[in-house]
Amino acid sequence: MAQHHYNSTSKKPINAMSVSLTSFLFLSLLCFASLLLAFSLFKSSIPLTTSPSQELHFGAKKESLKSCDFTDGKWVYDPNARSTRYDHTCKEIFKGWNCILNNKTNALEISKWKWKPKRCDLPPFDAHTFLEQFRDTSIGFIGDSLNRNMFVSLFCTLRQVSTDVKKWHPAKADRGFTFLQYNLTIAYHRTNLLARYGRWSPNTNGGMLESLGYYDGYRVDIDVPDNKWAEAPSFHDVVIFNTGHWWWAPSKFDPAKSPMLFFEKGKPIMPPISPDVGLDMVLKHMILYVESKLRHDAVRIFRTQSPRHFEGGDWDQGGSCPRSKPLLSQEVEEIFAVENNGTNVETRLVNHHLYNALKGSSFYVLNITHMSEYRADAHPSNAGGKKHDDCMHWCLPGITDTWNDLFAAYLNNVKVLN
Ligand SMILES: *[C@@H]1O[C@H](CO)[C@@H](O)[C@H](O)[C@H]1NC(C)=O
Ligand SMILES: *[C@@H]1O[C@H](CO)[C@@H](O)[C@H](O)[C@H]1NC(C)=O
Ligand SMILES: *[C@@H]1O[C@H](CO)[C@@H](O)[C@H](O)[C@H]1NC(C)=O
Ligand SMILES: *[C@@H]1O[C@H](CO)[C@@H](O)[C@H](O)[C@H]1NC(C)=O
Repeated sequence: MAQHHYNSTSKKPINAMSVSLTSFLFLSLLCFASLLLAFSLFKSSIPLTTSPSQELHFGAKKESLKSCDFTDGKWVYDPNARSTRYDHTCKEIFKGWNCILNNKTNALEISKWKWKPKRCDLPPFDAHTFLEQFRDTSIGFIGDSLNRNMFVSLFCTLRQVSTDVKKWHPAKADRGFTFLQYNLTIAYHRTNLLARYGRWSPNTNGGMLESLGYYDGYRVDIDVPDNKWAEAPSFHDVVIFNTGHWWWAPSKFDPAKSPMLFFEKGKPIMPPISPDVGLDMVLKHMILYVESKLRHDAVRIFRTQSPRHFEGGDWDQGGSCPRSKPLLSQEVEEIFAVENNGTNVETRLVNHHLYNALKGSSFYVLNITHMSEYRADAHPSNAGGKKHDDCMHWCLPGITDTWNDLFAAYLNNVKVLN
């Protein structure tokens, strides 16, 4: 805008120009100040993270919300804190994630760390308020097991104050519950890649992939949503998506032995593309699909990548996560900086793909990556009951509770601003 103004006055004599520039600046300041004032009166500043898509929703209102960034902050230890929102008796906690029951040494310590944004406080999650506010609402978590982890956290939190719950599997969800007193439904739709995929084997009559020597792999239809969630956008009022972990999973999609083979409009994409290009294409198609199916007033959220914390090797190479405290900032950079190409390098790489795909869309980006990068202490580790350490999922209670704090704060704002 300033640029445009400058151009339109550039032919005027110097003095007139500087006068008009000054008055323009003054007016803009005045304008901005009154917006700020209006907003501080309007809502005692419930802050939001910024995202490209927010611009579409909130326009100028966004300016005042920008002042507090939930994603920038630190973890603060409170020795007396206890997780009161739910405990290890919540039945929905998948057993490998129940670190208290599994006797993980620091299981009770995990919830003593509180996320403190730099310039504001994260409003505490209030289950009663949430249930009341989202009466007659349906919320769908759509994505891989890390979205299930977040779904379980929300379920257990709400279940703690409202026990009249009915199992309910709307729109092909894997798991779902309705809080009957409030008619609030929350559901989890499992999908690893968002797009439909399945085993591919060569056709005896030959074909394009066969002629290139492919003999095994997975067919990924970049333009077809997985049927686990294809109906979900026409059903839910709030959808929260993620994808990422399966795109960097050479143990499943081995580039040589069982590669991802991408199809568009039912035909193999030629020449074959790599998974990172495939991810971009899938995101593009799935975002368009959601935008076309979802009611225009439904809330759409994309969650950023959840970091893994394998040290000393990947999950299948004896990697582990034995730390009992969050990482320091410099450790976070060492482990996650893309230039260092470490074991968990996909964390920030996936986000680059997500941000590019979501730019200009109507999705809100729930940016949980950086805050989670610190929490090397918060995975099930060797208490997950598997042959290898689990440094990918999170203990519950645990940090996906904080993700839900952000989620609730965001929904709160949408509700108010609408
Ligand atoms: C997400 O949050 C982190 C920490 O504040 C920040 O470095 C990163 O740029 C954010 N990403 C976006 C797209 O806002
Ligand atoms: C955890 O410790 C308790 C008490 O010592 C024991 O009964 C239980 O079997 C342990 N659980 C696991 C999964 O090791
Ligand atoms: C219950 O909530 C759903 C949305 O999840 C809504 O479509 C339905 O009308 C509600 N039922 C009643 C009785 O209000
Ligand atoms: C990153 O490291 C992996 C092995 O851990 C290697 O295969 C890959 O080529 C490296 N990538 C870059 C860009 O250096």
